[in-house]
Amino acid sequence: MHSLRNFICGQWSSSVRLDGKTVIITGANTGIGKETARDLAKRGARIIMACRDLEKAEMARREILEDSGNQNVVVSKLDLSDTKSVREFADFINREERQVNILINNAGIMMCPYSKTADGFEMQFGVNHLGHFLLTYLLLDLIKKSAPARIVNVASVAHTWGDIRLDDINSEKSYHPRRAYGQSKLANILWTRSLARRLQGTGVTVYSLHPGVVQSELWRNLSRPIQVAVKVFSPFTKTSVQGAQTSIYCAVEPQLEKESGGYYSDCAPARCSQAARDDDMAQKLWELSCKMLGITWD
Ligand SMILES: NC(=O)c1ccc[n+]([C@@H]2O[C@H](COP(=O)([O-])OP(=O)(O)OC[C@H]3O[C@@H](n4cnc5c(N)ncnc54)[C@H](OP(=O)(O)O)[C@@H]3O)[C@@H](O)[C@H]2O)c1
Repeated sequence: MHSLRNFICGQWSSSVRLDGKTVIITGANTGIGKETARDLAKRGARIIMACRDLEKAEMARREILEDSGNQNVVVSKLDLSDTKSVREFADFINREERQVNILINNAGIMMCPYSKTADGFEMQFGVNHLGHFLLTYLLLDLIKKSAPARIVNVASVAHTWGDIRLDDINSEKSYHPRRAYGQSKLANILWTRSLARRLQGTGVTVYSLHPGVVQSELWRNLSRPIQVAVKVFSPFTKTSVQGAQTSIYCAVEPQLEKESGGYYSDCAPARCSQAARDDDMAQKLWELSCKMLGITWD
């Protein structure tokens, strides 16, 4: 089974070191985020695991410390479903850290029952897009000061499942869990493009990616039969280690230094949908996101 996976998913390896660099990874206590943290810890970076569940995060941190031998791995509280928590986390980082060289916006939820964030945003859009949009906005001065720096947004091929519903962004008129997840992942790609344009010439580059279909806890909100089907088809999917490779590639690959705003899959540039290349919609989404969060970001 393992070799079938390796055959399908391919391998990417790089010996790039990150000694002296600081990395923030959201949702690093499990799945793709945890494996990304483990790999980057082995490369010598200071790792800040930004997680909502501190107990689970501490267990993951201990495992990473033991495995990597890197003692410079810390946990910090971040709940992306509450802008107060995002602001507290960013204040803490801006106060305590000298630099942030890599920000990996990885955390995500998929196809949950309808619910709202503390600020009244539809949960998937609120966590997957708005939480990371605000976090990046609040950390951007420090990231710019740390240039060359990178921002990596973990999106998905599921961006093709939905569109940006400007007239019902919080799915209040109708809610389809799959469409709402698709909307949030489409938003990840659109704002990556917008951000890259705004950051031209600053030494900060931005990437979005699809990690593959990965065995992780992401499927927790799906029905039991679908969860069983995901397990049955596991030989054709990626492990979390394999799923982390494109995030790691976007974070460290030297050849990407001159690229920004692109979408990647399997550690290579990939083609996203036409809707994800709609710069007009990207601008509308940017303006709407700022309005919803009450921020000014030109
Ligand atoms: N797995 C796939 O097949 C797949 C495919 C395409 C894209 N992706 C994307 O890959 C990323 C990582 O997903 P995964 O597969 O590793 O899923 P996962 O195992 O469920 O991990 C998701 C992480 O996000 C965290 N998170 C969820 N809500 C949060 C919140 N409000 N505040 C802070 N952290 C929160 C979770 O924390 P808790 O542990 O506390 O819940 C967990 O650490 C996601 O953006 C997902 O959309 C995954």
